Amino acid sequence: MTGSIELADVSRALFMLSMDEADRAMAALTANWAPADDVMADLTAALATATASDRARALGDVFRDHELPHDHANECYRAAFYFSGEAEELSSNPLYAHYLAHRSGAMIDKWIHYFPVYHRHLERYRGAPVRVLEIGVYRGGGLDMWQRYFGPDATVVGLDVDEAAVRAVGGRYVVELGDQEDPEVLRRINAEHGPFDVIIDDGGHTMAQQIVTAETMFPLLRDGGTFIVEDCHTSYWDYYQGGLKRPGTFIEWVKDRLDDEHSRYHVAIDRASIWATHLDGAHVYDSVVVLDKAERFRPFSEVGGSSSYLRSDRVSESYLADALAARDQLQAELDAIRGEVSALRDEMDRSTDRSATEVIENDRSARLALQRMRRESVENNAELERLQADLASANGRLLESWEQIRLMRGSVSWRLTGPIRAVRRLMSR
Ligand SMILES: C[S@@+](CC[C@H](N)C(=O)[O-])C[C@H]1O[C@@H](n2cnc3c(N)ncnc32)[C@H](O)[C@@H]1O
Repeated sequence: MTGSIELADVSRALFMLSMDEADRAMAALTANWAPADDVMADLTAALATATASDRARALGDVFRDHELPHDHANECYRAAFYFSGEAEELSSNPLYAHYLAHRSGAMIDKWIHYFPVYHRHLERYRGAPVRVLEIGVYRGGGLDMWQRYFGPDATVVGLDVDEAAVRAVGGRYVVELGDQEDPEVLRRINAEHGPFDVIIDDGGHTMAQQIVTAETMFPLLRDGGTFIVEDCHTSYWDYYQGGLKRPGTFIEWVKDRLDDEHSRYHVAIDRASIWATHLDGAHVYDSVVVLDKAERFRPFSEVGGSSSYLRSDRVSESYLADALAARDQLQAELDAIRGEVSALRDEMDRSTDRSATEVIENDRSARLALQRMRRESVENNAELERLQADLASANGRLLESWEQIRLMRGSVSWRLTGPIRAVRRLMSR
């Protein structure tokens, strides 16, 4: 890598990107700079992405990943934000709207991603007669923003170590001169202007300043109040005595507060500290920590859904809940079985009805058959009687015939023709 990339060249490149001129952006970047091959490859890939905001963001990543000046990456991310629709979306945030509308007012220096965090935690104070302390005033732009945001009933007070800050504000707000690392200064401000509902630490951002301010002012904050610490990324920067997991940084201090919040769950944690008794919530965002203050009651779990809590303790309530759950389960199973039985019964009833119908049908056809048979029987009887009568008359006629035959055999001619009838009988066999 020869030469160096200047911020002016980065700005020119971003301007080219805003006009969709990726080639000219690359020319601007390399006008006074010959990047190493790996950087060049990453720049080429960044400028080949789809949109102006994608390219600007990817360009920022290249500067950050290759540890090029922080301001270069910041410019790229800033441009990407405005190239995309993100700025328009955020403009509904009243803090950001004020920030945009007062660009020519008292100077204000903010990371844009803080605005949604502020609004999430501070909106409930708007319009109320709250007391707000901003530590770190600079030129007073922050004080203007907070006053506009919280409304005319709010009292906004500043603290800065630099007299220039006091002069810049020029009496529009109370700004106390003092060092936030001095607990006496902080206690005096609280005594004169507090107790505060909201404290925003945007001062010197060193570890000692942040920790001393939190430990001094959180106990003095009004119950139900909000304590915000900005620019907590300094916990990772050497210049501010920071470092990754380095003991003594503000972020490591915050991690200890998370233990304090859980003091009821480990005997080694001090249960009497202000953090154990009054830290109602700790919200850790990128570079912003929000600590809610509210006196906490002793934690306990409870069983809802019955009025028996009036005469029952937690343990028996729990057994009762188990028993009720078991009973409900059994009841459900019983209901299911009853349902099945009922369904079976219905099925059986339907079968019985079918059988009965069949029986009735069969019975009817049997009766019809019987009637038919009886009718036929009657008819048969009549026939029988008729036949018997016929038979009787036939018998009578037969008897008469026999009598005649007997009489005839007794006659002379019958005896004389006897040999002729014998020959006929032999011949007919
Ligand atoms: C980032 S600027 C504040 C910006 C301001 N809050 C705004 O929104 O425009 C930081 C300020 O903190 C002040 N400061 C630095 N060290 C301090 C300290 N130890 N005590 C009080 N203020 C301090 C500086 O003088 C500077 O004005």
